[in-house]
Amino acid sequence: MIKYTAMDDEREEILQRESMEKAVLYVAELEKALGRTPRGCVVTFGCQMNARDSEKLSGILVKIGYSLTESEEEADLVIYNTCTVRDNANQRVYGRLGYLNSLKKKNPHLRIILCGCMMQEASVIEKIRKSYRFVDLIFGTHNIFKFAQLLVTMYENQEMIVDIWQETDQIVEKLPVSRKYAYKSGINIMFGCNNFCSYCIVPYVRGRERSRDPKEILQEIEGLTQDGVVEIMLLGQNVNSYGKNLEHPISFAALLREVEKIEKLKRIRFMTSHPKDLSDELIEVMGESKKICRHLHLPVQSGSNRILQAMNRRYTKEQYLSLVDKIKTAIPDIAITTDIIVGFPGETLADVEETIDVVKKVQYDNAFTFMYSKRTGTPAAAMENQVPKEVVREGFDKLLKVVQDTARSRAALLKGQVMEALVEEVNEQDASLMTGRLSNNMLVHFPADMAMIGKLVKVSLDTCHGFYYTGHIVD
Ligand code: 5AD
Ligand code: SF4
Repeated sequence: MIKYTAMDDEREEILQRESMEKAVLYVAELEKALGRTPRGCVVTFGCQMNARDSEKLSGILVKIGYSLTESEEEADLVIYNTCTVRDNANQRVYGRLGYLNSLKKKNPHLRIILCGCMMQEASVIEKIRKSYRFVDLIFGTHNIFKFAQLLVTMYENQEMIVDIWQETDQIVEKLPVSRKYAYKSGINIMFGCNNFCSYCIVPYVRGRERSRDPKEILQEIEGLTQDGVVEIMLLGQNVNSYGKNLEHPISFAALLREVEKIEKLKRIRFMTSHPKDLSDELIEVMGESKKICRHLHLPVQSGSNRILQAMNRRYTKEQYLSLVDKIKTAIPDIAITTDIIVGFPGETLADVEETIDVVKKVQYDNAFTFMYSKRTGTPAAAMENQVPKEVVREGFDKLLKVVQDTARSRAALLKGQVMEALVEEVNEQDASLMTGRLSNNMLVHFPADMAMIGKLVKVSLDTCHGFYYTGHIVD
């Protein structure tokens, strides 16, 4: 196992750029051997944070001479940027690794790289060392900015390279990025989480909360808008506690006020909000804003006070509902979405009924429902009253039906309205249609041509198809 040490952020940037220059030479050698440009494939599992990290990895690959491909079969380098929030994401990685091994037998040049949250777990590293010897490079969440340097080490060595850090206070952001979309971008405003919800592995794999300097954030957004970005998504595990630990503390709402002033920027989104930290100031800023989208993702996790307490969520059902009331009163056209876990240890069907009651009262525009997944090392994993699978399934199915009915009825309310949509991409099923996203995050499909991508247009919402609309542009 190698271990690169930390240094100050600016020196680090220089070191990484030097490493990129070295890597270029290795990639040029590979290009000669292959007789064509080497291809890199970055596969993202999990959340928006990982998606953003993948753009950083892709940026470095492009910089050193790879072209990007979405096909693992065509690639000479594959990176799995992993997630470990629920066990099924881990299992998918193991399954696909077996397949990558078969590809490596056909293409001996193929390099296999693993990174992301799953790699922060010691048991995972142990398993890969033992049973997946063909992996070339493994690193974690805290040293992703070392990617260029680690690549050089990989090219210079035959054996598996493993570099995992337990923590870092470094924030190195000014490295190349290859954005998936020209017109929108995620942007990290903070890293890590201090909440320790009892089911959640994130605080263990992403470390303690660290906020970025507001000036750096604003500069990055400014730069993105110069490059054609009109919509940004501010990313953090718990954006509502942004800035509290900075040398000169600043609130998330105050940061939003500054972001709003960036002239070319048209839309602002953010993710994720913890209900316990959502301030009146934020509601006020959202209400007044012309740019902050009419969408709030506000994970509730459960509607049962007993379960919320065991989850260490630090709010009650009543507090959550009154917060939602306050938000809806201040911003009537807001869409609220949520995350819900079913099957937390000790949960009964009566508890699920409490959650269903919250769904009916809040009238969520969408909800992501998850079956509880036991994560080793979290307090909930050690709880004795784990719920049998059949009971989880029963509660889950019941909840899902209410969630879907509610979302459908919320969507139907918009019929006939004219709303602004950001044109995002060609419709997957019908190339004569373009797909746009409304401020409330709903999708609408309408006739338009590719030249409209990245533009804001007014669209009439003609026909509701359950969770999305078809319509037409009105001028
Ligand atoms: N089991 C199931 N769902 C989980 N989540 C986080 N940890 C777990 C777990 N152990 C869900 C929460 C969170 C979302 C990102 O993932 O609902 O909000
Ligand atoms: Fe996990 Fe809770 Fe932090 Fe969200 S707020 S990442 S659920 S510990």
